[in-house]
Amino acid sequence: MPHSAVLNVMIKAAYRAGRSLKRDLGEVENLQVSLKGPRNFVTAADRRAEEIVRQELGKARPDYGFLGEEGGARAGTDTSHRWIVDPLDGTTNFLHGIPHFAVSIALERNGAIVAGVTYNPANDDLFVAERGKGAFLNDRRIRVAARKNLAEAVVACGLPHYGRGDLKLARHEIAAAQQHFAGLRRLGAATLDLAWIAAGRFDAYWERDLSPWDIAAGLILVREAGGFVTDLEGGDETLTRGEVAAGNDTMHRELLRLLKAAGADAEPAKAS
Ligand code: IPD
Ligand code: CA
Ligand code: CA
Repeated sequence: MPHSAVLNVMIKAAYRAGRSLKRDLGEVENLQVSLKGPRNFVTAADRRAEEIVRQELGKARPDYGFLGEEGGARAGTDTSHRWIVDPLDGTTNFLHGIPHFAVSIALERNGAIVAGVTYNPANDDLFVAERGKGAFLNDRRIRVAARKNLAEAVVACGLPHYGRGDLKLARHEIAAAQQHFAGLRRLGAATLDLAWIAAGRFDAYWERDLSPWDIAAGLILVREAGGFVTDLEGGDETLTRGEVAAGNDTMHRELLRLLKAAGADAEPAKAS
């Protein structure tokens, strides 16, 4: 399947940054046994990856704006286009030598995501999508899973870090999900959670407290794979609210319903 010129630019940038991360992963593995650990090295690897992506994209489209996790926002002279980039999603995995992380690049045009690339250099999984052209994993067309039965569903989620997010709400949501789904997974890279929904590996996924670069490429991957992705109210404010619910039509609808009920349970009982 031939890709558009701009998608090829995104793929090239993701591959280059991914190669750099893969090289660095070798060093991270060595550093596990050192007393200081690999933390500083990983911070540098993350910044290096973003710089590679920024340079590569900038060479091809110098006018576009850029929003990256490490370097923040840079306005472009072309105000209708913006890159949204997570150079290393799944940092904690990377830090521990766990080969589940990705470079994720999205292109926003007039406020809508029109192309997305998410690349895991550890296993060479390249997920790409463009508006109206479908979603692909390593050039093979992908679709969301067709399962309708919740009791057969494998579902991904995020977990709030200690001291962040609403732990009580998370416990209620997880308890509700455990009662209905076959299995819950917390793999630690939001961009891959969404890409795996697109590829039919996960049946549903929800998470809150995310940033735009965790979500942007996944939005178009899931939609072009025939899936649904919204914020947790069922609306289109995923990027601004930093939350997602995704799956096929049934899974997405049932997940929202379940989370809503769990949210009501987590509310303190009102005095009568
Ligand atoms: C994190 C991962 C993780 C999600 C966190 C994100 P990072 O991104 O996507 O799965 O639960 O909320 O911040 O820090 O590894 O780029
Ligand atoms: Ca991230
Ligand atoms: Ca990151």
